[in-house]
Amino acid sequence: MNKGYDDTFLERLKFNNDIVSIIGKYVTLNQKGKTHWGNCPFHSEKTPSFAVNGLEQYYHCFGCGESGDVIKFIEKLESVDFMSAVKILADTAGMEVPEFIGDDNIKEKKQQKEAILKANKDAAIYYNKMLYTDKGKDAYNYLLNRGLNKGIINRFGLGVSFDWVSMVEYMKSKGYTEELLTQAGLIAKGSKGNYYDIMAERIMFPIINTFGQVIGFSARALKDGKYAKYRNTAQTLVFDKSRVVYAINLLKKLKQKQQLQEIILVEGQMDVIAMHKAGFENCVACMGTSLTKYHAKELKRFSDKVIISFDGDTAGQKATLRSLEILQNEKLKVYVISMPDKLDPDDYIKKYGSEAYKKLIQKAVPLNDYKLQTISEDFNLNDNIDKTKYIDKALEEIKRLKSSFEREIYLEQLSKKTKVDIHTLERDLEYKMSTNTSDSNEKTEEAKAIKDASFKSSEFVLASIVHKKDYAKMPDENIFKNQTHKKLYDFVLKGQNLQKQLKISHIFDEFDVENTPEIKDIINYHFNTYESEDEKQKNEERYFNECITKLNLEKLLNEQKNIVEQIENANSAEEKNKLMQKLSEIIKKITNLKRKNL
Ligand code: CTP
Ligand code: MN
Repeated sequence: MNKGYDDTFLERLKFNNDIVSIIGKYVTLNQKGKTHWGNCPFHSEKTPSFAVNGLEQYYHCFGCGESGDVIKFIEKLESVDFMSAVKILADTAGMEVPEFIGDDNIKEKKQQKEAILKANKDAAIYYNKMLYTDKGKDAYNYLLNRGLNKGIINRFGLGVSFDWVSMVEYMKSKGYTEELLTQAGLIAKGSKGNYYDIMAERIMFPIINTFGQVIGFSARALKDGKYAKYRNTAQTLVFDKSRVVYAINLLKKLKQKQQLQEIILVEGQMDVIAMHKAGFENCVACMGTSLTKYHAKELKRFSDKVIISFDGDTAGQKATLRSLEILQNEKLKVYVISMPDKLDPDDYIKKYGSEAYKKLIQKAVPLNDYKLQTISEDFNLNDNIDKTKYIDKALEEIKRLKSSFEREIYLEQLSKKTKVDIHTLERDLEYKMSTNTSDSNEKTEEAKAIKDASFKSSEFVLASIVHKKDYAKMPDENIFKNQTHKKLYDFVLKGQNLQKQLKISHIFDEFDVENTPEIKDIINYHFNTYESEDEKQKNEERYFNECITKLNLEKLLNEQKNIVEQIENANSAEEKNKLMQKLSEIIKKITNLKRKNL
């Protein structure tokens, strides 16, 4: 499938962008043997643990566990998505990017998108200029009254739409059609057939993506009360509220200047602006919408730590806390700031100043702690009825945690807080976990399955093949049980049938390695070290063969079980006979395998 590009394009792209020389532009690399070493650009370190393998065309950091091909490297380092990274590399190599597969009218759409972006940009410039005219004076003063100044207003490109028609006329005079302006979500048709500015009588906040393009607007009513306080651009070809992060353009600029330790996430754009003015330039907003995994993925490109600084009255709400789990699911480290007195960050900084806010950041607690803390605030722990209820609720939360060590950490906390013996709590938790099949339960089951012996065998076999161990012969059949392992086998086999030399870098084209732990573990497989290379080779070879036998055996036993079932349900004697024959063949194979293994 190759992620939407034709089969050979990504291969040529990578061939023309040798990973060692591309990474070498960003990181000082030293060659030792087949590997080039440098300081990892994704975490801070003083001794090199970042390895680039030119032969296999992939990188891996032994410190932080990052790995990928040259495209992934550009995605991470430039904080762009896959398609943009491809574009950057294609430009570097002087290659044309072919059309994306599966979309016939892609060219037309692309042109339309570009036209919308241009219209948005011109509208944003117009709105900004209007702030400095007579008609925009009220709006300008409003912003000054809210503590902003000209510098910050222009940094965010703020503007004003002071009436219903001026922008429409201006844009039309520049040659934009009503049709296009409607597609851009800037104007709409009124009941008398006239077009009007959707955002009339509002302060305009352009929303800008990482490429500096204006993709839409958020607009705040100048006067409170009459209409909705905020209005946002509706869904367009370039704007999707569920993915938008406000001020992401500035975050990107900041990251290009310095290492980003963390991102501060707030609710509203006025908060973002106040925070930037106070010196917190790592602040972005999700614009009042509920968080989605797209927001999470977007943030993850910039940092793996997010500090939530929501309004004092929303941060503790259950729905909010649940929605923050989305960030955790994308493997972000999530901390929460408690904001006193129902203030939002904007109010807080005005009232107490930025030094005080810095202290709040220092006191931010991990999301899980914050949740348990919030729950306990509803109960009086000196009252036994209340205390019981509290423990029950807290255990419900702890149950949702993904790993047993996390659960243990919080059980211990709970035990200390309630003075209930940890073993008692443990038993209650176990009972809770056994009595329902919520998703957290399924996940622990999954985790267990991942660790089982057969999984380990198939992992070792595939790792040996992928890392081209001399002893690693490709099994004749797909003997793997795990679906992802199955797919990897098929992928390797396909390459072999096409007489292609497998490179680890190819695996990144086919799989979303970052989000597929099974594949990631195979690419980064740590083969045990032995006293001598010779010894190691012999041991690995023996283990490899054992694994293959084990997997074969499992597969046969499984087939045997299925056939026995089919025999029980067979409708005719003829069918039954056929199945019996099959069964005896399988049994023969099983006996052979077992004998060989003795
Ligand atoms: N929002 C929205 N639609 C609304 C209200 C809010 O889209 N009707 C979004 C806006 O992006 C807003 C954010 O939710 O910035 C937070 O809302 P709120 O806290 O009410 O606004 P503030 O950012 O505090 O704005 P202000 O200080 O101007 O009242
Ligand atoms: Mn506010």
